[in-house]
Amino acid sequence: MSISIKSKREIEMMRESCKLLEQVFAQMRDALKPGISTKEIDSLGEKLIRKCGCTPNFLNYNGYPASICVSVNDEVVHGIPTKDRIIQDGDIVSLDAGLIYKGYHSDMARTYGVGKISEEARLLIERTRQSFFEGIKVATEGAHLFDMSNAIDEYISQFGYGIVRDLVGHGIGTKLHEDPQIPNFSQKRRGPKLQAGMTLAVEPMINIGRGDVAWLDDDWTVVTEDGSLSAHYENTILITDGEPEILTFNGICE
Ligand code: MF3
Ligand code: CO
Repeated sequence: MSISIKSKREIEMMRESCKLLEQVFAQMRDALKPGISTKEIDSLGEKLIRKCGCTPNFLNYNGYPASICVSVNDEVVHGIPTKDRIIQDGDIVSLDAGLIYKGYHSDMARTYGVGKISEEARLLIERTRQSFFEGIKVATEGAHLFDMSNAIDEYISQFGYGIVRDLVGHGIGTKLHEDPQIPNFSQKRRGPKLQAGMTLAVEPMINIGRGDVAWLDDDWTVVTEDGSLSAHYENTILITDGEPEILTFNGICE
């Protein structure tokens, strides 16, 4: 496994890619209302990505047929947008998007409650988000990758939630998925040492019930096996000799 270290110039490209993505993302978030179809969110996202001269990196990735992943309620990730799937009041909706700017990829996800959601759903979303921040607290040069995995697991476990194990975070740069894989659950080994200049997509996927998942017949949509709600929170980060820089988090999308 070799983890790429980005040069100063590459880091600038990554920053810009991520900044543009966050701007696009905010507009999808604002469009997320009862009555909108998941396909309309996808079309909006693709249009906005292309408008800034970028390319949607999910489109046709391993055959994925859309630009944005829209995963509702018990859908964990990779929900394929369709015109018949209409967002309802009370849904929790995970948006996952990425783009390519001058050859450099960005990737982020958020789960949003639409209208009035249950208290248990609100807590799931809040704690999934917090688990990301608990993870990156230990993500500094010289630490080990799995320190982050362990921190996420330790934080989430107190709530009795299930951590999705079949999908993991990843390195990112000139490809959407680079080494290393980043599990969100505790590891026996320490994993590779973190170095300044690594860019990583850290993305806990957390279920209210068990962590087990299943794939729908479309071969993409990942759902919780027990039908419980699931939330996702992802940022592209840069490892530094201090706190990591959260490249997809510039005060536009919390
Ligand atoms: N954000 C997803 C991931 O982390 C990418 C979606 S895969 C795709 O890795 F096929 F939908 F593009
Ligand atoms: Co990702």
